[in-house]
This record gives sequence, C-alpha cells and structure tokens, in this order.
Amino acid sequence: MAHRIAVIGGDGIGPEVTAEALKVVRAAGVDIDTTDFDLGGARYLRDGEILSDGVLDQLRGFDCILLGAVGTPEVPPGVIERGLLLKMRFELDLYINQRPFIGTAPGGSVRHDFVVIRENTEGPYVGEGGVLRKGTVHEVATQGSVNTWMGAERACRYAFELAMTRRKHVTLVHKTNVLTFAGDLWQRAFDAVAAGYPEVTTAYNHVDAACIYFVQDPQRYDVIVTDNLFGDILTDLGGAVSGGVGLASSANLNPARTGPSMFEPVHGSAPDIVGTGKANPTAAILSAALMLDFLGENAAAERIRAACAEAVTGSTSEIGSQIAARVAG
Ligand code: IPM
Ligand code: MN
Repeated sequence: MAHRIAVIGGDGIGPEVTAEALKVVRAAGVDIDTTDFDLGGARYLRDGEILSDGVLDQLRGFDCILLGAVGTPEVPPGVIERGLLLKMRFELDLYINQRPFIGTAPGGSVRHDFVVIRENTEGPYVGEGGVLRKGTVHEVATQGSVNTWMGAERACRYAFELAMTRRKHVTLVHKTNVLTFAGDLWQRAFDAVAAGYPEVTTAYNHVDAACIYFVQDPQRYDVIVTDNLFGDILTDLGGAVSGGVGLASSANLNPARTGPSMFEPVHGSAPDIVGTGKANPTAAILSAALMLDFLGENAAAERIRAACAEAVTGSTSEIGSQIAARVAG
C-alpha cells in the first residue's frame, strides 16, 4: 500500500527542496501518495490561515508529514514559528527531534558520526511567561523553561534505545551547574533510564563545553540527549561542523505513533536565494530518508544516504536529479 504523505513545501526555498526530495523518494521505488498543503507565511499573508484545528485534523490522517521550510520576512517573528511549526510539534506530540550529523569538522581529520536527540515539546518553547508594563522603563518579561519528568524521561529513553543500535554511548548535555532545578530533573531522569541499560556507557557535558567539543573533538559523541533550546542551538553548530546546514536533516518523531511524524531539513526558508537554484536539496533529501526509515523502508533510505554521501554539484534540481539517478541505479 502506498504511504500517504502530507507535503508542506512552505515558504522560500522550501517548495524547491521538497520537490527534489520527492523526486528522489520516487526514484528509490517507494510507493507514495502525496497531498499538498499550502501553509506558511505566504498563505498567512493571503488569507490569515496559519494552521487551523480543521487542517491539523486533516494532517492527523496521514502516515507522515514532509515539510520544506516556513517563514517569510514580511511576517513578524513568532507568528508562523509558533502557530504552525511549534503547533504541529506540540499537538501531534512530536516529542523527539532526531538530528544526525556525519562529517569531518573544519580543521579536523577524523570523521564523526553522532546523533542529537532534542526534546521537542518543552523547555522555553512552550510559551510560559509574559510581559508587564510593556513599553515603559519598568517593563518586565519572563519566559520560563518547562521541564517535566515525563518529557525528560521519554527523551532519555529514546536516546538509550537508539544507542543500543549504535556504539552504545549516550551523553547528557545541560547546564546543571546554573540551571539547578531543571538540570537536576534531567540528570535524575537520565540516571534512572541509564540504570536499565547496563551496556550503554554515559557522559555528561555542560552545554558551553559541548560547543567546544563539537568543534574540536566531535568524534567523542555517539548519541547526545538534551533539552529543546540547547538542542536547537547545538544542532545548528552540528550542521556547521558537518558540511553545513545544507546537509542537516531532522525527524520530528511521535515514537508512540499516536499520529503522523514530521520530517524537515534543519535549515530555514532562505528567502534571499529563492528561485536562484542555489539551495542545496540534500538536507531535504536526507530528511526524506529519515521518513523512509520511520515508514519501514530502510533499504531505500540506505540507498538514498549512500547516494548523498558522494559529491554532487549543480543547481537545486541538478543535484536532485543526480542523486535520483544514483538511487534508481
Ligand atoms: C529548528 C528551527 C525552529 C526551532 C524555529 C524555526 C522555530 O530553528 O527547527 O531548529 O527553533 O525549533
Ligand atoms: Mn533551529
């Protein structure tokens, strides 16, 4: 049976890179049935729709969601991010953001291969807090970080399960020396999960130190687990030391499979290069490979990753076609 995929090309280069990803999936011989959803900043500017509950309910009926990028400079920051992307992550309970990194850090010589498991539904992203006395010198803004035992525990459990299929090492990244309440919860959840995985070795890094290791010694990592905001920042750095964000893929997963999972490149909509053919579709193609893994199409996913590992040059569609040709054999 065909896998039913909801496609949100989105804004800027999003539709361009998503088209290449679908080209490659079809070339791999995977049977997909796609439905386009016109959502993002451009749609919002046209008729005010961001992601209504009705559209969200339609999305629930699909096996997966493939997203290009959303956001446009004409819309104030936060509107599309919170109303579309974060709404999907929260409402569909996409509690794991899995971001793999393979490459050789600039100036380094040893290849690294690690995965960041970013908690995807909590932290400062939930919108806790508010503003008082706005526009005065006495203005106060608070933005709390929400951390639940369940949220930390399930992120850690996913990381340990993943590590069992890899090199059996998990690093917790946090800032336990300053964020003592949240850090303590995370450390205890991590330790409690670790006790069930005696074969997995563990480490802990403060997030500032982890930034140094990402640049100078990334091969020390296998699986990293961290909170939502640290994971956001670290995964841009992960992309920068692994060939650039043009290669960085991500999976927003609901591992309990109570709804569709969502797959998207780490990069944004890059409105400055839209229509120039300069966008590298590899991150979107590798995100589609993560989608195929989740759909059980592992052989096709492996073929796509192998095709992406070889050098490619050219425009957005030329790169997509080269990778598609390799995948088709
Ligand atoms: C990402 C993005 C999003 C995030 C933005 C667009 C809300 O940066 O997926 O990493 O912060 O999670
Ligand atoms: Mn980000």
